[in-house]
Amino acid sequence: MKVGIVGWRGMVGSVLMQRMSAEKDFELFESVFFSTSNAGGDAPTVARGERTLKEANDLEALAGCDAIVTAQGGDYSNDVFPKLRAAGWRGYWIDAASALRMKDDAVIILDPVNLPLIQDALARGVKNYIGSNCTVGLMLMALDGLLKADVIEWISAMTYQAASGAGAPQMRELIEQMGQLYSSARDLLSDPKSPILEIDHAVSMSLLSDQLPVRSLGAPLAGSLIPWIHDDLGNGVSREEWKASAEANKILGRPALGEAGSLIVEGLCVRIGAMRCHSQALTIKLRADLPLPEIERMLADANEWVTVVANNREDSIRELSPAKVNGTMSIPIGRLRKLALGPEYISAFTVGDQLLWGAAEPLRRMLRLLLNKL
Ligand code: HSE
Repeated sequence: MKVGIVGWRGMVGSVLMQRMSAEKDFELFESVFFSTSNAGGDAPTVARGERTLKEANDLEALAGCDAIVTAQGGDYSNDVFPKLRAAGWRGYWIDAASALRMKDDAVIILDPVNLPLIQDALARGVKNYIGSNCTVGLMLMALDGLLKADVIEWISAMTYQAASGAGAPQMRELIEQMGQLYSSARDLLSDPKSPILEIDHAVSMSLLSDQLPVRSLGAPLAGSLIPWIHDDLGNGVSREEWKASAEANKILGRPALGEAGSLIVEGLCVRIGAMRCHSQALTIKLRADLPLPEIERMLADANEWVTVVANNREDSIRELSPAKVNGTMSIPIGRLRKLALGPEYISAFTVGDQLLWGAAEPLRRMLRLLLNKL
């Protein structure tokens, strides 16, 4: 198999490259690297890789691949994918962007959760396999056990999403904002007796000043938060919030939201000052009054990445934080308890790296699935 790789230098692409190298994926197929800006330059050195970068808009070169993996972004997918198909290319298109996700001829890939659905699609000759929205994917990975047992009636997800979900420039700007806030209070901080309200005033002035860099984020994120992610759909719902139920039902192979048998996923999506881990506080209505130990067992046994964190102060603070999970494949879920709302209602809190299970990992695993090497 010959695999074309596009967008390997961006943030998701770089994480994908790290993971593919770590797992020795490149030994399994020939690789051709494409570039939108440096065709003819040196390709990254990997096992069985072509040495020279090809032009990412060269349809003929792309059509020479059996599979194309792209993390180049939605504009590229919208532009190149239809042209390739129109030219008769029948290879596998594996994409991190959302552009083609909800199309009828595309499957959203999250194999620990929906492997049978992917295998069925492969058998039917489906050729388009698209990674999920990071927040949805991470939530489904965490709740895998309860979803497989089909014991959830609805989920309300309050998210705490990292800057990386918005993009690399936003991550840089977050740190610049942090630095600026610190600078505004540095002298006061160096005096242990300085009044805290003076420190607060200095930081507050800095947060509102024209000098705070907000070009990428659009608003202060350090020392603050942004309670809207992605487009405004005009009905009070953000696109990120809409994706939760739309994609969750598609991933799970259920009818669309509102139809009988669909899963209701509601919530509010909020950007916070974490680097690359999305966290989510979940309220879940179960179909039955299941004992908590049984719920914990179902969650823990579902896949090899999810871990149940005991619902106490020490374990929660130590294990359930973006700082701890950053850069790992682990999906901890904790803060599990029955709510005063009734015996079918539980709370949960989960954290996951949005660049790994939230973006890159399902793509490289899809390649392995094509080769029966998962
Ligand atoms: N839309 C997500 C976010 C990123 O803004 O955090 C990845 O799907």
